[in-house]
Amino acid sequence: MNKIVTIISSIVESAFVECGYDSCYGNVTVSNRPDLCQYQCNGAMAAAKVYKKRPSEIASEVIEKLKASEIFSEVTIVNPGFINMNLKDEFISEYINKINSCHSYGVEITDNPKKIIIDYGGANISKPLHVGHLRTAIIGEALKRMGRFLGNEVIGDVHLGDWGLPMGMVISEIKSRNPNLPYFSHKELDEYSSKAPFTISDLEEIYPTASKKAKEDSVFMEEAKMATFYLQNGKKGYLALWRHILKISTEDLKKNYGKLNVEFDLWKGESDCHKYIDKLTSYLKEHNYAYESEGALIIDVAEPEDKKPIPPFILLKSDGAVLYSTTDLATIYERVMLYKPDLIMYVVDKRQSLHFEQVFRCAKKTGIAGEALNLQFIGYGTMNGKDGKPFKTRDGGTMRLEELIKQVQQKVKEKITMNNSDLDMDEIEDISRIVGLSSLKYGDLSNQISKDYIFDIDKFTSFEGKTGPYILYTIVRIKSILRKAAERKLPVSSSIGKPQSNTERDIMLKLSLFSDIVETSFEEKVTHKLCEYMFELSNLFNKFYQENKILTEQNLELQGSWLSLLSLIKGVLETCCSLLAIEVPERM
Ligand code: ARG
Repeated sequence: MNKIVTIISSIVESAFVECGYDSCYGNVTVSNRPDLCQYQCNGAMAAAKVYKKRPSEIASEVIEKLKASEIFSEVTIVNPGFINMNLKDEFISEYINKINSCHSYGVEITDNPKKIIIDYGGANISKPLHVGHLRTAIIGEALKRMGRFLGNEVIGDVHLGDWGLPMGMVISEIKSRNPNLPYFSHKELDEYSSKAPFTISDLEEIYPTASKKAKEDSVFMEEAKMATFYLQNGKKGYLALWRHILKISTEDLKKNYGKLNVEFDLWKGESDCHKYIDKLTSYLKEHNYAYESEGALIIDVAEPEDKKPIPPFILLKSDGAVLYSTTDLATIYERVMLYKPDLIMYVVDKRQSLHFEQVFRCAKKTGIAGEALNLQFIGYGTMNGKDGKPFKTRDGGTMRLEELIKQVQQKVKEKITMNNSDLDMDEIEDISRIVGLSSLKYGDLSNQISKDYIFDIDKFTSFEGKTGPYILYTIVRIKSILRKAAERKLPVSSSIGKPQSNTERDIMLKLSLFSDIVETSFEEKVTHKLCEYMFELSNLFNKFYQENKILTEQNLELQGSWLSLLSLIKGVLETCCSLLAIEVPERM
C-alpha cells in the first residue's frame, strides 16, 4: 500500500499541474509544526522563483484545486506561501484500517530487492567479547532485520578475526607451556587429535598472557610472528592447533551472540579468503596495480582531489605476511565470487574509516569490486563512561560484555522485584534478562550511529524517559489491558472508528507513518529514527491511557474500536522491537 505522504503528495502534485506548474513542487511532508497542521507543502516558494510570481499567488491557485479533494478537512496558506493541510478524520481512520489489515503494517516489499552482505560482529577468536563488540553486533543485527523486512536478501557475516598475529601469540604461548605436544614436533602428522589440549577458560587466560608477554618480550614477539607466518603458510601442526582454537572460540561466541539475539548466517573469518591471496596478488602485479616498495607490495590509492593524504594500500608486508588490509581486499574478492552482492555494508568502529577508505578505493580501482557493487562503511562511535572516556571497568580494564550485561540485568532486577511481589524467582530472572537487554540495546540504538555516547546505567535502565524499559513497559501495559478485555469478553471491533479526541487522532497519524520510518531508516542506515518513533508512539498511547477509562467505557462501540486500536499500537511497537532485536516480556 502507498505511504500516506505519497498519497497526499500525488494529490497536491496534480493540483500544481492543473494550475500549470511542474509536479515537482507538490511534494508534501509531515508538518514540522504539528501545532499548526498535520502536513505541509513548501513548493510554492520554489515555484515562485521559476514562474516569476508571488508564492502566495501560486499557493492560492493550488489550494482552490485542493478544496475539491475528498481527503482534506482544512487547507490554508501561511505567509509567504506555505500550504498547510489537515486530513479528514474519515480518511485517517480508513487509512489506519488498511494498515491494520496488512501484516507488515503498511510496509511495502521493495520492488527492487538487493542482495546485501552485512559484515558485523567482527569478534576476534580466543578473546572474549568485550564492550567494544557491543555496538557492531546490535547495530548490524538491526540493519539486517530492517533490510529483510523490506524484502531484500540480507546475509549477515560475523567475519571473525582469526588469521592474524594474535593467533601466532596463542600458538607460541601454548608451545612454551607444552613444547612436547605433537603440534610442535618437526615430524608432521597426517592427522592430529580431534580433542583440543585446552578449554575455553584456558584460552581466555592464554591470550591475555601471551599478548602481555609479546609487548614486554621481543624474543617472544618474534616467535609469535614466526608462528603466524608458519600458520599462514600451512604448517600442518599449527593449522591443527588453530582449528581447535577456532572451534572452541566459535562455540563460545555463538552462545554469547545468541544471548544478545544476534544471529549470523555466515561464520566466516579473515582466514577464509586465504586461498585466494596468491591468485589475487598475481593478478594485481600483472596488471601493474601492485608494485614493490621497501620490500612490501603496495597499491597507490591516493587521488588528486584528496584533502588529506591517503597512504598507499599495503597488500603484503616485506616478510610476506598477510595484513588486515590483505584479508579485507581478498574477502571482497571472495564475496563477489560466491555471492554476487549488490551491496556490502561494514558495521565497524569509525576509527577504522581510513582503513576502509583504502580498501574500498583499492577494490574499485583494481576492478575487484565492479561498478555495480556498492561498498558502504557504517562507522559507529565509542561507548564512553560517565567520564567521557571509553567505557572501562572500575580498575581501568576492558569490561567483558558478559559482565556489562550482568550489571544491567542486576539493576533491572532490583526494580522488577520491587514492583512484582507475586512473581517467582525464575520469572523475575527471565524478565530482568529481557528488560536489561532492552536497556542496553535501546540506549545504544537511540543514538546516531556515528556519534559517541555515554553509557549511563541509571538512565538506561529507567522505566521513564526515552529508554528500552519504558517502551517495553508501554507494550506490557497494552498487553495487560487486552488480556483483561479478553477475560471480560469485551468485544473488539473489526474496524477502528474515527478518532474521538486529539490524542486519538495523533496516535493514528503516528501509526500511519510507520512504513515511512522503516523505509527511511534503512535507506539512511540509521536506527535512532525508529527508536524515536517508538518513543513518540509510546508517549501518545500513555497519554491516551491517562485520558480514557478503556476497560470501563460504557459506549461499547467506542470501546471495541479502542481495543482494536490498542492491538494495532501493540503490533506496531512489537514490530519495531523485533526489527531492533529487542524481546518483549509478557509482564514486568
Ligand atoms: N576484527 C576486527 C576488529 O576487532 C573487526 C572486523 C571488521 N570487519 C572487517 N571486514 N574488517 O577490529
